[in-house]
Amino acid sequence: MHEKLSFDVAVIGSGPGGYSAAIRAAQMGAKVAIIENRFIGGVCLNVGCIPTKTLLASSSILDKVNKASSFGIDVKEVSFDLEKIIKRKNQVIEKLRKGLEGLIKSNKISIFHAEAKFLSQKELELIGKDQALLTAKNIIIASGSLPQEIDVCICDHKHVFNSTSILCLDKPPKSMLIIGGGYIGCEFASFFAKLNVKVTIVEALPSILATQNKSVAESLHKAFIKQGINILPNFKVEKVEVKDGHTYVYSNDQTLVSDIVLVSIGRKANTQDLNLEKANVFKDAKGFIQINDQMQTNVKNIYAIGDCAGKLMLAHVASHQALIAVNSIFGKNEQMDYNAVPSVIYTKPEIATVGIDQEKAKALGLNTETKRFPFMALGMSHALGEEEGFVQITYDKSSKIVIGAEVFGSDAANLISEITLAITNKLTLDKISNTIHAHPTLSESWMEVASLAQGFPLSLPPSL
Ligand code: FAD
Ligand code: NAI
Repeated sequence: MHEKLSFDVAVIGSGPGGYSAAIRAAQMGAKVAIIENRFIGGVCLNVGCIPTKTLLASSSILDKVNKASSFGIDVKEVSFDLEKIIKRKNQVIEKLRKGLEGLIKSNKISIFHAEAKFLSQKELELIGKDQALLTAKNIIIASGSLPQEIDVCICDHKHVFNSTSILCLDKPPKSMLIIGGGYIGCEFASFFAKLNVKVTIVEALPSILATQNKSVAESLHKAFIKQGINILPNFKVEKVEVKDGHTYVYSNDQTLVSDIVLVSIGRKANTQDLNLEKANVFKDAKGFIQINDQMQTNVKNIYAIGDCAGKLMLAHVASHQALIAVNSIFGKNEQMDYNAVPSVIYTKPEIATVGIDQEKAKALGLNTETKRFPFMALGMSHALGEEEGFVQITYDKSSKIVIGAEVFGSDAANLISEITLAITNKLTLDKISNTIHAHPTLSESWMEVASLAQGFPLSLPPSL
């Protein structure tokens, strides 16, 4: 016999979308349940953002130690132990997961470890450890996404990995081939190349990071080649085979042999087992739940947020959508705005973008201009030994309102916040150039590029 329970809001999934929605709903005074069939924290905390950035933190230290002599520091023998790197990654996840579970509980939210399936528009059946029948006035689906499989082979997780199973690899291979040069492919390429693995990326499109700003994608391509990463664009994988402990990836005219393969060709909606048809919730042809700007599905009391709604598969998009969805439940009519969503690719060098770039502006018929400022012209980048890279800014030619920006280089992830704030608040170039930036910092590059765009650069000769 199932226990029967009722809630104001039930949230399916505890990733950044789900837990943010649950906490905000509880803060608004609702009786809230969160249902999770795997680990609290979802993909982001357990097999996504946090583990990858923890691994990249280790490879970044290795990189710095390898460059120590140019800073006047002698390090005798440098070595690394992937098993220990993975162990640290697991410890970081565990610590954060415990903290998050405590945070959810402290908000008096009921956690159910079970799989939720719709029985109707207000009822869920929970199957698993915490079996129950649950009714809720409002339901928020935050069930996330799964790795997209490639049709020419299956991941055996011994030789052919996906982004989840590669996180447990505790011995570095000599060589690896990455299928897909998007976010995941490039971040893992960066990580493994620093561990001296011979990395090759094969990409179906004409370039890696093909959906990103062209200049940052091209800059990363060049930097990767310099680091010894082999990139094969326009590559059509015809077959993948595992033979004698090696992997063979075939296109119609090439065979590439490596120790392991990582498949990172995108992610698909995790919606197939929710029994959405019982609630009459519409999905698109790819399985993503259809939503409006308040995250509401075609059913008034059912919302969908995060990866399962397929807008932009980023943790901070999921958590922002969560707040909009909860506000809508409580009668506040806000709309999700995707014009100022920052996106970061944590490669070395790092990439961060926000808003509309020059190419998109042109396609939209906007009258814009783009200016670039090189890190080379900043004192701090020399002090840090991080001269490679640039910031660039796109603005409306007549109003001077900033509409987009890109960073290629050190600390891009943090630097992009300033321009995200500027775009969100429709700031003009002079608001940035008139803001006092601490010296020496990399953030001075925004003040410099904004000054340059207004024709009075301080740290560059007038001709630029
Ligand atoms: P998820 O985090 O996917 O969580 C959904 C949860 O719901 C899962 O735990 C799932 O098991 C559970 N669930 C599903 N169905 C049910 C059910 N029926 N019942 C109960 N529970 C269910 N984004 C960034 O912004 N920055 C990054 O640096 C970044 N790095 C990434 C690195 C990798 C390798 C990957 C794979 C992704 C990365 N992402 C990153 C993307 C980010 O992880 C996702 O955008 C984010 O996790 C989406 O959050 P979500 O709440 O929609 O769902
Ligand atoms: P992606 O969409 O970023 O990249 C997939 C790449 O694979 C594309 O370039 C695509 O052209 C290519 N591809 C597809 N099929 C192919 C094939 N058969 N052969 C060769 N190439 C092929 O997807 P990815 O990297 O799997 O990441 C999924 C999502 O997760 C991202 O889109 C992003 O939203 C999120 N993510 C975000 C991160 C961040 O914010 N730092 C880090 C990692 C993931």
